[in-house]
Amino acid sequence: MTTTRIKGFADIFPPMSDIFTHMENVAREVFARCGFVELRTPLLEFTDLFQRSIGEETDVVQKEMYTFPDRKGRLLTLRPEATAGVMRAYIESGLANRESVSRLFTTGPMFRHERPQKGRMRQFHQINCECLGSQSPLADAELINMLLLFLDKLGINDVILHINSLGCSTCRQSYKSALQEYLRGKTADLLCEDCVRRMETNPLRVLDCKQQGCRDITAQAPKLLDYNCPECRTHFQTVLRLLRERGLNYELDHRLVRGLDYYCRTTFEVVSNSIGAQAAVAGGGRYDGLIKLLGGPDVPGVGFACGMERLALILSNVHQHQLLFYLIAMDQTSREQGWLLTQKLRDGGLTGEMNFSESGFKGLMRQAGKSGAKYCLILGPDEALQHNVVIKNLVSGKQECVPQKDALQYLLKEIHSND
Ligand code: HAM
Repeated sequence: MTTTRIKGFADIFPPMSDIFTHMENVAREVFARCGFVELRTPLLEFTDLFQRSIGEETDVVQKEMYTFPDRKGRLLTLRPEATAGVMRAYIESGLANRESVSRLFTTGPMFRHERPQKGRMRQFHQINCECLGSQSPLADAELINMLLLFLDKLGINDVILHINSLGCSTCRQSYKSALQEYLRGKTADLLCEDCVRRMETNPLRVLDCKQQGCRDITAQAPKLLDYNCPECRTHFQTVLRLLRERGLNYELDHRLVRGLDYYCRTTFEVVSNSIGAQAAVAGGGRYDGLIKLLGGPDVPGVGFACGMERLALILSNVHQHQLLFYLIAMDQTSREQGWLLTQKLRDGGLTGEMNFSESGFKGLMRQAGKSGAKYCLILGPDEALQHNVVIKNLVSGKQECVPQKDALQYLLKEIHSND
């Protein structure tokens, strides 16, 4: 019997693992500049946390959670997203008493039992940011600006920002009635089975349905923005004005309600059209009632999460793991000398590998070629005796024999002359 991985769960090898590390490094740099600090929360939480925050009527809670009882029979769930856990940690730690605004980021694996396809995994990774404690539209604009800055730093700028406003609970109530009235006027058999139920229990979810029949119907549905109260309208107009003044483009998307129930006012998604059907690379919005709903203080919040697998699909076209040198050593003595030389070159900041096992010259040259390195360093018994090394540029074919003690200088000079 072979042991296989679970469907929808991936092993991440290079170059993908390098791309993931690169994304996290860029995120840390950009977020630190905006005052965000890292919070690491557990992968497991009590199920009830997700049911209450994400909402009973959502696909995530109804169909996608990995839920199981622990040894005492308590229901636990592998986190399907980071926000709920961050809110639980924020409340439990009493952070609200210590700072008026908290800026927290989290990265790591999330779990949703969805049908796997390109860009959709059952274990996937998010980079997640939350700004807690400010009701100001400046906070919404700051988060969106930071998200786009992060993507830009990664070299991803061919994306579209979709944005909408759900309004507050009061204006959403009048919208819900209008939407229900509109949907009830349609023949029920045009809507999917789920939406016939949602129409009565949580009509906003119908706007989010991906079934073509439902999409055709909601295309003409009343618009949320037309039901925003004056305060919500001013809030949203300010967010949009700040984005425009920063030179950030957006598209108003009247059906953008997002798949999770905790949102109010601003909601947004960043979409790429170069990665297929699973096109949303990031999503987020404001969730002012959530902390209170979970038993915490009445603190507002706004945040987003990026899907790392989807960003990696875009980046895999540009980012390559690159070795600068591959050292081949022919016998026992030259291998030990070569090992010391490899460490010295790495100490000098260069990236490289060497062969550990014995093999013929041709086989070793093949290994060097396959490694993708630009330079092959050759160390045979003669070179070892003289403490020399042959450095061959595998692109141009040029080769020179230099003293081992000068190899670092030689390679650094070569790199600079090619810049
Ligand atoms: P979400 O839209 O459910 O929002 O997920 C955010 C991003 O995670 C998506 O845009 C997508 O890139 C990625 N993603 C989601 N599901 C999968 C999957 N099965 N496979 C691969 N990638 C996936 C949230 O999770 C909210 N907690 C975001 C947020 C933070 N809102 C406020 N703060």
